[in-house]
Amino acid sequence: MTTTVINGRKKFFSQNNVYVPHVCVIEKIVDETPTIRTFHFKFKDEKMQQAFTFESGQFGEYTVFGSGEATFCISSSPTRKDHFEVALQRAGKVTNAFHRLEVGSEIGFRGPYGNSFPLELLKGKNLVFVGGGIGLAPLRSLIWNVIDNRDLYEKVDIIYGARSPSDLSFKYDLETWSKDTRLNMVTTIDRADPAWSGRVGMVPTVLEQVAPSPKNAIAIVCGPPIMIRFTFPALAKLGFTPDQMITTLEKRMKCGIGKCGRCNIGPVFVCKDGPVFSYAQIKSFITNEA
Ligand SMILES: Cc1cc2nc3c(=O)[nH]c(=O)nc-3n(C[C@H](O)[C@H](O)[C@H](O)COP(=O)(O)OP(=O)(O)OC[C@H]3O[C@@H](n4cnc5c(N)ncnc54)[C@H](O)[C@@H]3O)c2cc1C
Ligand code: FES
Repeated sequence: MTTTVINGRKKFFSQNNVYVPHVCVIEKIVDETPTIRTFHFKFKDEKMQQAFTFESGQFGEYTVFGSGEATFCISSSPTRKDHFEVALQRAGKVTNAFHRLEVGSEIGFRGPYGNSFPLELLKGKNLVFVGGGIGLAPLRSLIWNVIDNRDLYEKVDIIYGARSPSDLSFKYDLETWSKDTRLNMVTTIDRADPAWSGRVGMVPTVLEQVAPSPKNAIAIVCGPPIMIRFTFPALAKLGFTPDQMITTLEKRMKCGIGKCGRCNIGPVFVCKDGPVFSYAQIKSFITNEA
């Protein structure tokens, strides 16, 4: 194993070739929703598992051998070191191939890549997490990171929604967080459902009802483009400035390390300048792309 620095961050490579993936083994598979599964991975090489570090918000390139490679964020927290987790929504060739794998199957991993949520900026702040659907995956890495270092942060609000009760991801985490008196967990679904006795309403509307104060606060927003489009104005209405809003961008990638030129949105390369951006950084061009 070789450790190299790309874009100022540590990367782990096999055989000095950045495109050769490390082999990981699936330890556990969790069915989240009818289309989303979480995979728990461990590096086949025990030394690699011990040396592996990443930051919340980073992503990797994952290979199903014989099917191809695709990009996914790490959904577990770097504070939990014995394995790492990825939540995959079935979309096409690679994600469907992933969903056919079983515990014990081997996959390839390159990474971790990209920047991360700005932990130093978040320290001492009130945090407002706003998530929708599988957008909870990158947020979840940061939320557990914050919980594991709870004294470093002030008030924490989590507003998370999905279309229906069965579309809510990480239900076991939602339950744990809703019982944690140091967090304000608000879960919502888009439309009334006989199987749901909780809150009903779209995430941006519920955010306005919860009305977190912008004072000494940062909002971290991840979800489908339509949710993000309506969440930024909702936050602005509450008094949040573009510098106080953070999100992650998604764009189809190939190399993941700034070489192939596939992933630009406006002037930024999502893989090396992001995927984490403040709204202030991207607002001039995101509305045309989202
Ligand atoms: C930084 C980053 C982090 C991501 N994290 C996750 C994650 O944690 N979990 C997860 O399930 N997915 C995540 N994605 C999206 C994921 O990369 C794509 O869904 C995946 O590449 C689909 O691969 P596929 O071969 O299954 O689908 P394909 O067969 O390649 O495509 C299926 C359909 O999805 C479209 N598509 C593919 N990739 C994208 C994309 N990036 N944006 C919009 N449309 C796309 C295609 O145009 C096509 O219509 C992330 C993407 C990025 C860039
Ligand atoms: S994915 Fe190749 S440059 Fe970003």
